[in-house]
Amino acid sequence: MSDNRDGFGSKLGAIAAAAGSAIGLGNIYRFPCLAGENGGGAFLLIYVLIVLGLGIPIMMAEFYIGRRGGKNPVGSIKVLSPKTKWNWIGYIGILAAFVVLAFYSTVSGWTLEYIYKAATNFFADKDIATIEQGFVDFNNNPFRPFLWQFIFMGLTAFIIFKGIKEGVEKYTKIMMPALFVILIILCVKSLTLDGAGEGLKFLFKPDFSKVDGNVILAALGQAFFSLSVGMGALITYGSYISKKDNLATTSLSVVAADTFVAILAGIIIFPAAFTFGIQPEAGAGLAFNTLPMIFDKMTGGYFFCIIFFILLAIAALTSTISLLEVVVAFLSEEHGIKRNTAIWIGTLVALFFGVFCTLSLRTDSVFVFGNMTFFDFMDKFSANILLPIGALFIVIFVAWKMGKESFYDEITNQNTLKMSVKKFIFFIIKYVAPIVIVAIFINQIINN
Ligand code: PFF
Repeated sequence: MSDNRDGFGSKLGAIAAAAGSAIGLGNIYRFPCLAGENGGGAFLLIYVLIVLGLGIPIMMAEFYIGRRGGKNPVGSIKVLSPKTKWNWIGYIGILAAFVVLAFYSTVSGWTLEYIYKAATNFFADKDIATIEQGFVDFNNNPFRPFLWQFIFMGLTAFIIFKGIKEGVEKYTKIMMPALFVILIILCVKSLTLDGAGEGLKFLFKPDFSKVDGNVILAALGQAFFSLSVGMGALITYGSYISKKDNLATTSLSVVAADTFVAILAGIIIFPAAFTFGIQPEAGAGLAFNTLPMIFDKMTGGYFFCIIFFILLAIAALTSTISLLEVVVAFLSEEHGIKRNTAIWIGTLVALFFGVFCTLSLRTDSVFVFGNMTFFDFMDKFSANILLPIGALFIVIFVAWKMGKESFYDEITNQNTLKMSVKKFIFFIIKYVAPIVIVAIFINQIINN
């Protein structure tokens, strides 16, 4: 890392920022949505197996590339493997960042609308049908979804303007713990609802008759999406991590926190969904429609609801920051564009695609192909295709091109840390991860 390059100020700051990237709408909106559509318990089990088995090693592989290369995904790989074509992996990441940002900014915009709705008491004493209709009406509004989406991306750009230490690190360190606290309060409340037993059974009792190639691929995609791996976000953050930090414990903390929040979200949402008669397969609106119902049943629900959606917006923000930072670091370091100009370019390109995602959710939208909206396409294309492919090439690069000596050297901080599990981790990166990812793809191709 060059001396004048910005970076995280402390290990806790690095963990908070990486956890901030990982924890987001993927945990609270996308995870319950997919678990609901893919049969609940069996999906959760496959998801957890992938996260625990592959998540930590792949995350370490990304941090390794970033910290050793000291740059954005393309630049870091160029440093590690000069004059080769491996840096194409970095370009897949840049593409993925735009694809994810497009639909993610749509959903992020919803969080702002819901803060507004909560503050103006829209949800008070409403039945679920009215709340669901409110969501549809909002998506059909010619103005509001775009307004929020633009404001949200503006906020993202604003924090990146402030830099890594003073922007990204400072904000995430305060907000992530607050999100935890409120999620736990919600969890306690949700468990007292009438549908708690049924909801928990749905989430935790695996029904393997529901499992097919699609479910496994969805779990793989969600695991990578949720952990922010496979597209270089954590390569970029890795480049800001101090040489003294322990990459293994940092990864472990991030994976644990991320998985904990996803499960917590499930424990909050499914009992409530069963209580209020919302189908688990309800899709996009599942989290957004069920949560206000729980708040409405709580003492102080009005305030909790506002605070919750503010925190959800912040969780989304710490993720969009990490996505945009991939693009900004790339444009400024590889193309010599000024950081501030790079922020504008990245934001506007992301919004361009983002607007089509938002438009595609209108009831009368023309951006629907077959029964897939452009929004769904961007969601599935990134999580189920780009991220697994990115992760596949990342592990191949680390294990087969860079090799174990370089990897061990970096993760043990030049042999100053004792790490008995390093061989095991490298074994997963070299063999298990590529085989599992390829097998899931082949299985999907054969069965479709
Ligand atoms: N991990 C984020 C979430 O779960 O909401 C989404 C995300 C952020 C994916 C950054 C990929 C990424 F690089």
